[in-house]
Amino acid sequence: MTTFAERETTTDVRALLDRRVPGRPLEAPFYLSQEVHDLDVAAVFGRQWLYVTTEAEVKHPGDYVTVEVGPWSVIVVRDDDGQVRALHNVCRHRGSRVLHEERGSVGTMVCGYHQWTYATDGTLLHAGEQAPGFDPSCFGLKQVAVRVVEGLVLVCLAPDPPDDVDDVIGRIAPYLAPHQLCRTKVAAREDLVEHGNWKLVMENNRECYHCEAGHPELTCTFFPTYGYSIDELPDRLLPVHARYLRAERELERACDERGMPYAAIEEISGRTTAFRVQREALDGAGESYTTDGARASTKLLGDLDVFKLGRLSLHLQPNAWFHFLADHAVLFQVLPLAPDRTLVRTTWLVHEDAVEGVDYDLDRLTEVWHHTNAQDGTLVARAQAGVASPAYEPGPYAPNEYQVDGFVTWYVERLREHLA
Ligand code: FES
Ligand code: FE
Repeated sequence: MTTFAERETTTDVRALLDRRVPGRPLEAPFYLSQEVHDLDVAAVFGRQWLYVTTEAEVKHPGDYVTVEVGPWSVIVVRDDDGQVRALHNVCRHRGSRVLHEERGSVGTMVCGYHQWTYATDGTLLHAGEQAPGFDPSCFGLKQVAVRVVEGLVLVCLAPDPPDDVDDVIGRIAPYLAPHQLCRTKVAAREDLVEHGNWKLVMENNRECYHCEAGHPELTCTFFPTYGYSIDELPDRLLPVHARYLRAERELERACDERGMPYAAIEEISGRTTAFRVQREALDGAGESYTTDGARASTKLLGDLDVFKLGRLSLHLQPNAWFHFLADHAVLFQVLPLAPDRTLVRTTWLVHEDAVEGVDYDLDRLTEVWHHTNAQDGTLVARAQAGVASPAYEPGPYAPNEYQVDGFVTWYVERLREHLA
């Protein structure tokens, strides 16, 4: 029987990678094969920094979240000293999962099998009767590398995590800081299982070519000119573009007055911890992701003093995108379940003092992205069905899909690196 590691390298993945044509999507096996899926889990999700939760979800000592990443289960917990930790959810006795709920709060973590008991920092506190010489300090829960960037919690499952993460954190933190995510709370959370490969989910998110026809609620405020350069704009979008430019000028003025960065930084291929960040104007009232663009919550985040600050959009490869508005934030996390199934977890954060029904209405807050997610889920399922046909052949990306090409190039780089 071949081992997992052997299986990874015995297919023609290398040949498939060598055949990849820049400017075109991947070939079908990348979206269909169990073997490639296993390789993705090992080479991408087991190697890269992943967004997993927010500080708002582990606010107090003992608060925890568990996240399933392929075969791994990770506990993100705030320890008794107030530090956010990530631990492997694997008992050091005989390997049982220690925590089984998706989230909760604990004083200590007790494995239900034989009651080994761990402190919130992972230290083994109690292991019943043991042979002489048993040293509890050798059997704490294994630590997972963790970084907290302005309220976002990132983990890396690899023993040698990519070290460019601190550079990325240094560059995105000034964009995020004004929103003060550590002073927010979860208003809503939505898990959607999309019937498509995780890469199709991410690729779909890296372009807005489909937005004009596919997202009527989103395009009330999201300019569907996204991704176009001026000389590629179709005539019908010229009035929208003029509106975008006016809104951008106003936004830049507001940001300059407050010393808030807004310029795009885009490094989506050619670096390990790839990212894109930019603050851009919204259409309509320009304040929030609602169907009229007006605020969804009356409580501003952080120390912000104005609602009309557009959307701060952040993309982190491999598995996340975010929009930070003045009145709320909406965060998206992608986790692979199977070659043709992917979990998309959406979390809406509002100011910690905002009261539902008083400061915000839940339906109004979630309406746009609830519908947009469902529409994207349908688009991804159709793409998955299409690539499964023997007739599928990768076609050319349009110029406004350049970020999809960047994502695929980055993915190919990671697989090559792993197989090398
Ligand atoms: Fe956890 Fe035995 S497996 S206490
Ligand atoms: Fe979409």
